[in-house]
Amino acid sequence: MKKILSATVVICLIFASCKNSKDGNAEMDRFIDDLMSKMTLEEKIGQLNLPTIGFDITGPVLSKDVEQKIEEGLTGGVFNTFTPQAMLKLQEIAITKTRLKIPLLFGYDVIHGHKTIFPIPLGLSASWDTALIRSTARAAALEASADGLNWVFSPMVDIARDPRWGRVSEGAGEDAFLGSAVARAMVEGYQDGCLRKNTSVMACVKHFALYGAAEAGRDYNTVDMSEVKMYNEYLPPYKAAIDAGVGSLMASFNTVNGIPATCNTRLLTDLLRRQWNFKGVVVSDYTAIAELENHGLGNRQEVSALSINAGTDMDMVSEYYLTQLPALVREGKVKESVIDIACRRILEAKYKLGLFDDPYRGVSQERADKEIMSADKLALSKEAAIKSMVLLKNNGVLPLSKDKKILFTGPLADDHRNLIGNWSGAGDSKKSVSLWEALLKERTYMYAKGCNLTDDKTLIDKLNPHDGQIVPDDKTPQELLQEAVKMARSADVVVAVLGEPFGMGGEAASRSNIGLLENQKTLLAELKKTGKPIVLVLMNSRPLTLEWEDKNMDAILETWYSGTMAGEAIKDVLFGNAEPEGRLTITFPRNTGQIPIYYSYLNTGRPDDENQKYTSKYLDCPNTPLYPFGYGLSYTQFEISPVTLSDTTLAENGSLEATVTLTNKGTRRGTETVQLYIRDLTGSISRPVKELKGFEKVTLEPNESRQITFTVTPEILKFYNASLQYTVEQGDFNIYIGNSSATENKTAFTYKP
Ligand code: NOJ
Repeated sequence: MKKILSATVVICLIFASCKNSKDGNAEMDRFIDDLMSKMTLEEKIGQLNLPTIGFDITGPVLSKDVEQKIEEGLTGGVFNTFTPQAMLKLQEIAITKTRLKIPLLFGYDVIHGHKTIFPIPLGLSASWDTALIRSTARAAALEASADGLNWVFSPMVDIARDPRWGRVSEGAGEDAFLGSAVARAMVEGYQDGCLRKNTSVMACVKHFALYGAAEAGRDYNTVDMSEVKMYNEYLPPYKAAIDAGVGSLMASFNTVNGIPATCNTRLLTDLLRRQWNFKGVVVSDYTAIAELENHGLGNRQEVSALSINAGTDMDMVSEYYLTQLPALVREGKVKESVIDIACRRILEAKYKLGLFDDPYRGVSQERADKEIMSADKLALSKEAAIKSMVLLKNNGVLPLSKDKKILFTGPLADDHRNLIGNWSGAGDSKKSVSLWEALLKERTYMYAKGCNLTDDKTLIDKLNPHDGQIVPDDKTPQELLQEAVKMARSADVVVAVLGEPFGMGGEAASRSNIGLLENQKTLLAELKKTGKPIVLVLMNSRPLTLEWEDKNMDAILETWYSGTMAGEAIKDVLFGNAEPEGRLTITFPRNTGQIPIYYSYLNTGRPDDENQKYTSKYLDCPNTPLYPFGYGLSYTQFEISPVTLSDTTLAENGSLEATVTLTNKGTRRGTETVQLYIRDLTGSISRPVKELKGFEKVTLEPNESRQITFTVTPEILKFYNASLQYTVEQGDFNIYIGNSSATENKTAFTYKP
């Protein structure tokens, strides 16, 4: 164990370690060699053990006797606990009572903010604002590190194209290019370029790999995918996080082509370590090593050997490593050198975090009080909420005029808990501002609850035992409905705030039908009969099927679960003090039968043609989605000119400039997200009809125009071919610039190397 070093030496070490220089690495290697030479096999295996302790249960079992295990040197870290007191207490046990005084990692699911909650990741991605996303991760790191944490299980970068899967809420949607940009921004925000800083936390990219492609959208389910699809469409965001220096990675629960990720050598060793050169820690998901028995991979001993040999360094909660590995090594079924490699990676993470010099990382109650929910973080939360909201429809009723008689209705209009959404572990929903509270700060409006979140008893019985917090009103559903309808008759405009209870999103929350809940639909249908204009404000964690609502509502504002400041943010957008800037990062289908539906599909040999029977289409609905990827309206109107190119031929080391003029044709200031897509018209494999390759957010005053230029290089035309070579092929390409993936604003060029 190193002594606390003098200030100058610490500064030098910080410099060396953060620059990741050769000297820094050599110093780290020497330190860890020395430490490991003193460790027993049991102590090394202890480092591979990650039990859960404390306030939160995020899986089916809870670890036992954790404090005792810490004292015996049988844990490398813990998770699900925070606060300065909890961390200081447990770290002190590790530092003062264990033989080798190895400090602990403290992990937690900080997913969209720690205590100040930002919009759910799917919502945040809809901002298409990577600087903003980086700032939210930075703010989360400042709070989490002050609250005793040094490791966050984020970002989740699983590409998700099946909105039945509850976990679409945790990622950046369906697209690899955007997903990669978000992954980078999150890692940069958490780690701040230097893990050693007391204000940085180690990020953990998850869930490797392809968890978002679970069959039928059912959580934890099987994934089967061609390698070409995997490499081109699903793997890039994990790789982007690794290239951004992410310190750790979590293996996913699912099988990939028959082999569970937790013991998948091709993924965890061949791809991750050999091809991508990842040097950080690989942790299993919650009890995933034990679950390999259910996957049919063998008994305790066998699955433990399979996992460690495949490259899972740390065992989250199963305690199979702790109980099985000593005998496996003694029996020669697992080499001690394999344990050494895993142990070294964990010790390296601790070293890089500076834990051997300062295991407590300057944590104190004072620091926590200063950082947590500070005014700047609340302001950022409000900004992020506003920028994430997507205006799906508007016939002119929005923004609202304060002079109108407005009825606010719906169970989410005055709600706290749902605003911060799922995976908001440390967030305190009592501190969130409901829309109704925000409104009342200025003046009062008409209010009627209208309905419960749901009247479906089976659903309530499933959600409430897991903190669902669905409390039916004292009034009967009929009374609630009649009250709202009666008030609507005397209003000029109705704002209905509806959506999913937060427990319907996140882990283990798949749905087979993704419409609004029946009782909420009834409320809308009855309100519609009053003939009053209706604004539907949605809070939900996934795309919903909204065909009826799209036809019958006057405006629809998607707010996701937008966090601590949701109420203030929604108020500002409804009344036009702010613009809804969000653009969808996941396709909204017309109905559940269209799933999976995404913009970058491959053409079939018989593309959709209404006049031909034998073409690829449905008999009962169009192929197109209700709202496409990239879509979202503004309060102003933008026009995008035809695309011009600096040349129609692109050479091997050359570049082209693709330009459009964006004009604000409306009467309000607004922000548009200009999107660049390409289509590779002929290739050695079938290529997507469109692929996002660039985007830029632009704010313009009324009548203002701006030229937007994207640089096209051969690099952005590359893809993995059938032999998995990353290559660009000669031929013709379409280039599209527009404000959604449905744009037909295009021109063409040829790539001639
Ligand atoms: C299970 C989830 O899949 C994962 O995302 C999370 O980080 C762990 N539990 C820890 O809570």
